[in-house]
Amino acid sequence: MSFTVAIDGPAAAGKGTISRAVAAHFGFAHLDTGLLYRAVGIRALEIGRGIIAPDMAEKVARELTEAHLQRPDLRSARAGQTASRVAALPPVRAALLDFQRRFARRAGGAVLDGRDIGTVICPDAEVKLYVTASDAVRAQRRFEELTAAGAQTTLEAVAADLRQRDLRDSARDIAPMVRAGDAVLLDTSELSIDAAVTQAVAEIQKRL
Ligand code: DC
Repeated sequence: MSFTVAIDGPAAAGKGTISRAVAAHFGFAHLDTGLLYRAVGIRALEIGRGIIAPDMAEKVARELTEAHLQRPDLRSARAGQTASRVAALPPVRAALLDFQRRFARRAGGAVLDGRDIGTVICPDAEVKLYVTASDAVRAQRRFEELTAAGAQTTLEAVAADLRQRDLRDSARDIAPMVRAGDAVLLDTSELSIDAAVTQAVAEIQKRL
């Protein structure tokens, strides 16, 4: 039997941490769908020598394999920006659709996190959460994450990067980042990781 948990929201709101924790808690599989777009963007940039050709991005998306998702540079701010750009291309989104839907319906339960899981990929998901946090909190968290990983950056640069990405992701014509009408809002601005995970687990438990 399948059971799908859709977790959407803006960058650095805590979606990834919460998704991994609830997947571990319930023994569900987890797919970070942002990684798909990051892998497509970085690979398309490489092939285009710094320029993304939409046709090429579509081809990369069609031929994406697990191996492409293992690259260590997918977490960089550059990969995030490139992902946000290729994510606005309808053929790229179309090429990644089936894989995500199949993942969502696998036996044993699945958690998918992204921007359009509850609205487009899995509108019938059993549980939908929209995870958010204030701009300042998100920028601080992402700044700490990036510097801990050795990146040289500033809080201001990280904040500007997130603003630009959120704007592009929510203003695009196709599958924009938006809270599904039936998604439960989880604002993590004032919550510890443990408290946010506890709330997410409780929401899922109600519907199991
Ligand atoms: O979740 P993330 O920050 O790794 O995502 C990177 C970018 O990919 C994000 O800015 C927008 C895009 N994305 C998307 O359009 N749809 C998704 N389901 C996941 C990510």
